[in-house]
Amino acid sequence: MSCPGFLRKKGLAGIEIAMDLDQNRDIDRVKRMTDMDDKDEIEKFTRQLQEQIMEDIRQTYGPAVMDHWQNPRNFRSIENPDGRARVQGVCGDTVEMFVKVKDETIAECGFQTDGCGTTIVCGSVATELASGKSIIEALGAVSAAEILKILGGLPESDVHCAQLAAEALRRALADYLSQKNAPWKKKYRNSQ
Ligand code: FES
Repeated sequence: MSCPGFLRKKGLAGIEIAMDLDQNRDIDRVKRMTDMDDKDEIEKFTRQLQEQIMEDIRQTYGPAVMDHWQNPRNFRSIENPDGRARVQGVCGDTVEMFVKVKDETIAECGFQTDGCGTTIVCGSVATELASGKSIIEALGAVSAAEILKILGGLPESDVHCAQLAAEALRRALADYLSQKNAPWKKKYRNSQ
């Protein structure tokens, strides 16, 4: 995942603030470089900007966030899932969770989101928490509090991303349970 992708939307709150603070200085610098048409200078500027972004991320977020951001787990949809749920958060972004269940154990878990980088991080942790557990165990294990604990906390403005990921996963598990009791629901949904 690249930095521009990470900042594509709301990004991580701390980074946006850092970028705003330097905006005028950076715009002036870009204007000067464009005037000079200096390719090396532009490359140098891009490199420095990327390093600055990474440094800002490191200062705001812990190593566990960096790990899940740079290598998100289970960031994919799953075909014909046994349970799925799409939830919209207070920010307007959505997370969709998918689970495949075998012998009452979560054999596969995946997610998609149109939300920020923090949501990808939280979705990644949520799916890891649930994978390999029984439905009941997963319902007990996946919560915003647990995601925040694993990540070493998040800035206040990002806490809702953890709530969104946990809620989507718990609803996907509830969807599985409701289909188990009424299998026609799955057939009906798949035929739509
Ligand atoms: S800002 Fe919307 S989910 Fe993170």
